Amino acid sequence: MDENTTWLPEIPEGLEPLSPNPGGPGEPDDLVGREQELARLHKAVLAGGAHVIGDRRMGKTWLVKKLQNDLKETVTAIYISGETSSLDVFTDRLLKELRGNRRVRDGIKKWEMEIGGEAKLNIGVAGLTLTAKATKAADQAPKQLDVLDLLVSQRVVLIIDEITRLCQSLGPDDAREFLSGLRSRRQSHGLPLIISGSIGLHHALPDFTPVNDLWEVKVGPLGRDEAVILAARLLLGIEVEPTPQLVADIVLETSAIPYYIQGVVDKLQYRKDLDSPTIVSDVVTECIADNSWDTEHYLTRLSEYYDPKGVACARIVLDMVAVSEKPVSIDALGARITASDPDLALTRDELLDLINNLEKDHYLARVGDADTMASPLLARIWRFHRRLG
Ligand SMILES: Nc1ncnc2c1ncn2[C@@H]1O[C@H](COP(=O)(O)OP(=O)(O)OP(=O)(O)O)[C@@H](O)[C@H]1O
Ligand SMILES: [Mg+2]
Repeated sequence: MDENTTWLPEIPEGLEPLSPNPGGPGEPDDLVGREQELARLHKAVLAGGAHVIGDRRMGKTWLVKKLQNDLKETVTAIYISGETSSLDVFTDRLLKELRGNRRVRDGIKKWEMEIGGEAKLNIGVAGLTLTAKATKAADQAPKQLDVLDLLVSQRVVLIIDEITRLCQSLGPDDAREFLSGLRSRRQSHGLPLIISGSIGLHHALPDFTPVNDLWEVKVGPLGRDEAVILAARLLLGIEVEPTPQLVADIVLETSAIPYYIQGVVDKLQYRKDLDSPTIVSDVVTECIADNSWDTEHYLTRLSEYYDPKGVACARIVLDMVAVSEKPVSIDALGARITASDPDLALTRDELLDLINNLEKDHYLARVGDADTMASPLLARIWRFHRRLG
């Protein structure tokens, strides 16, 4: 018998209730679990920085914000998201963040007073620079202020979330130069960098040299014990008793992914049929069906990152893997593509590239030489939207 069908967790005593907050920004204290990932991040900061990798909704932003909060006592960490409509919006926001930091703000103000103008932040090949139209002492004061130097001198840790979006806005050449500039700073003087993003950086940065010194910190589903605690605390938060069966159902049906655990409990508070043995599965089906968790994104984003042939092949691969109970071999996937449409047939190298990309994009997980979907929940999401039963 499948061990999952018999698994019943022990619910620890004395848990603090927690109100559901699916997708919201959250306070550092709302973060449940992730001790290992946090400990690794703290070590990574001392070693130069980290690249936080994980599928959407795994909790990367919550994690790096917790790190920012933890670092408050010793150094100062500036958080900025690359998820903006344009580079100008990004630089305006970053400048605001810099001005919000007491020590950095003082450095900027001093330079602005010397130059007699208001600064504008530029990002690109030259790194991060402030420029201003000088109104006084233009000859003596430097017309440009190197912000990276300023950050180094103030022992700042820079956290850039949604790095892939920023790299896309910059374009591959400027993105490489910008990240190379950051790399040489952290190697010569120390300017630890934390980057994070759910969309594989490989789509926007063909050459990984500028970031391959950063430690990888993977953020996947919660550990089972952590997921049990999160589910139980959230149930207490909606005044529902966290019975072992209900908690087990939530953890298994959500594949222990924190966002979906939060999402299920959030919906449970409005349900009258809490005694139904299929309540959790029903809620998950409804949320996938009405797309309230935006799970259609898994289908639509393929065409953002793969060319039309790649999209067609990826769909065939994912259709096959999502209905298979066992990991599927590369050879079987290649044969299925050719059988579906001989015009799509891939060479072995092309097939390996496709599978590697689907793994990096968090659709597939490698098991030996074969692949499964990254989580049972993702398999279910894919089957639902592709009507595979
Ligand atoms: N450790 C955690 N404890 C409790 N809830 C969590 C945790 N991590 C994530 N969550 C829940 O998941 C939601 C998404 O988290 P977060 O925004 O950090 O994910 P993300 O990986 O940054 O997603 P995206 O890639 O879409 O930006 C949070 O709003 C919260 O509801
Ligand atoms: Mg995020």
